[in-house]
Amino acid sequence: MSNTIVIFGASGDLTSRKLIPALYQLHAKGRLPENTRIVGVSRSPFEHDEWRASLRETTSKFAGKSFSSAKWDTFAPCVFYQSGDIKDAASFQSLSEFLTEIEGGETTGRVYYLSTMPQLYATAVEQLGAAGLASEENGTRRVIIEKPFGTDLKTAKELNASIHNVFDEEQIYRIDHYLGKETVQNIFALRFANSIFEPLWNRNYVDHIQITVAEEVVIGRRAGYYDTSGILRDMFQNHILQLMMITAMEPPARYDGTMVRDEKVKVLHAMRKMTGGDFASQTIRGQYRGYLDEEGVPPGSQTATYAALKLYCDNWSWRGVPFYLRSGKGMSCRTTQIVIQFKNVPHMMFGDKSRVPMGNRLVMQVQPAEGIQLHFETKVPDAGMKTRTSHLDFNFQDSIGGDALPDAYQRLLLDAVQGDASLFARGDEVELAWGIIDPILEAWNSPAAPPLLQYETGLWGPTEASEWMYNQKREWFDVCPVIK
Ligand code: BG6
Repeated sequence: MSNTIVIFGASGDLTSRKLIPALYQLHAKGRLPENTRIVGVSRSPFEHDEWRASLRETTSKFAGKSFSSAKWDTFAPCVFYQSGDIKDAASFQSLSEFLTEIEGGETTGRVYYLSTMPQLYATAVEQLGAAGLASEENGTRRVIIEKPFGTDLKTAKELNASIHNVFDEEQIYRIDHYLGKETVQNIFALRFANSIFEPLWNRNYVDHIQITVAEEVVIGRRAGYYDTSGILRDMFQNHILQLMMITAMEPPARYDGTMVRDEKVKVLHAMRKMTGGDFASQTIRGQYRGYLDEEGVPPGSQTATYAALKLYCDNWSWRGVPFYLRSGKGMSCRTTQIVIQFKNVPHMMFGDKSRVPMGNRLVMQVQPAEGIQLHFETKVPDAGMKTRTSHLDFNFQDSIGGDALPDAYQRLLLDAVQGDASLFARGDEVELAWGIIDPILEAWNSPAAPPLLQYETGLWGPTEASEWMYNQKREWFDVCPVIK
């Protein structure tokens, strides 16, 4: 069966920076099914060749050294452009005719990728339905929805309801690009293809878990979006909760879309609801100094650019184990890491007894310098029975001969074309995730909100966040990855 991928929002940044380069790479590696066509749709008028020429330029830039003119020349003829307005029903009629024309009446699987402004998702889906473009009479019809999926639980529910008016849940692919990252998928492999970690992966052996997504960048020119979103909506509701679910889930019986997502959803169901004073004692919000001077940020904005949360998952595996989740803009370096901190030995009998051993820790370095490190105590040679922390280091780059890991969108686009939804968020999952974030957003908007702490850029967020951890006899793993 041939395939058509229709990208709405074709003149946008995501299309040129991520989607087309990913599709090109898939084509270059011979992974795109034969006879795959790509149709870009947006309001700007373009001829096919004009759009192809502009994509050639951006793809050669974003695909990096793997770009080959010869391969592009075999890819470009499969790329088409159709101008159209999402609010205009006639545009969808013309699109329908155009698709029938290029598909030549063959049975064709279609993937509609909504990379438009989020306010247009519901309208786009409605128009697809009204134009008969969702009907599966002549091949599968799937829709990919970019983030953000709603801005709170209410809007996410409304969006789910309007999409379900047209598409069944099995046809809906909600993107969270973190799930397309190799190192995130590797968490499944590490946990469920080895027998050495899983017996320890629970409250009996784990003291706490830290998930950090730190970014050195500040908001730049994104104030319009960011100031109404803030760190909780931008990073926690989606990416960080996804990392948490995969870290905390029980092993599914099979690696398939339903079973994997069922287990992930159970984690969200088990999350303890924060109430009353919890918002002040278990959440920290910060804003980097200089945020208010960024272009487009309204005076006195209270938007948080940093957050740290202490969450609990009340089930047999995790009861009593804190999950510390944190993320911030303007941090000391770019790093996404998951730290499983195992419990200390019950009694330290070697060397300096006052020294707290720093080992007993597994670090999953999601990005950059992707890899896994196991930190453990070893004897200092020729020094009596003193110990120190050493580590075993697995680096992905070494294992693939120094090549860059594929971009997340390659995997996700291919999975959507092939009908594998394991790495996409399900409707109930998205709503449950909002159910965790919404109460925090509300508390942060109320008189009981914890203070908005100022922090200097280039460090690890507010100093109070470090004190907060010390007071709990714990320490953030503030280590920037070493990029070779
Ligand atoms: C996006 C957020 O979803 O993820 C951005 O909107 C953030 O604010 C980005 O910078 C981080 O993605 P990555 O893949 O660079 O870690």
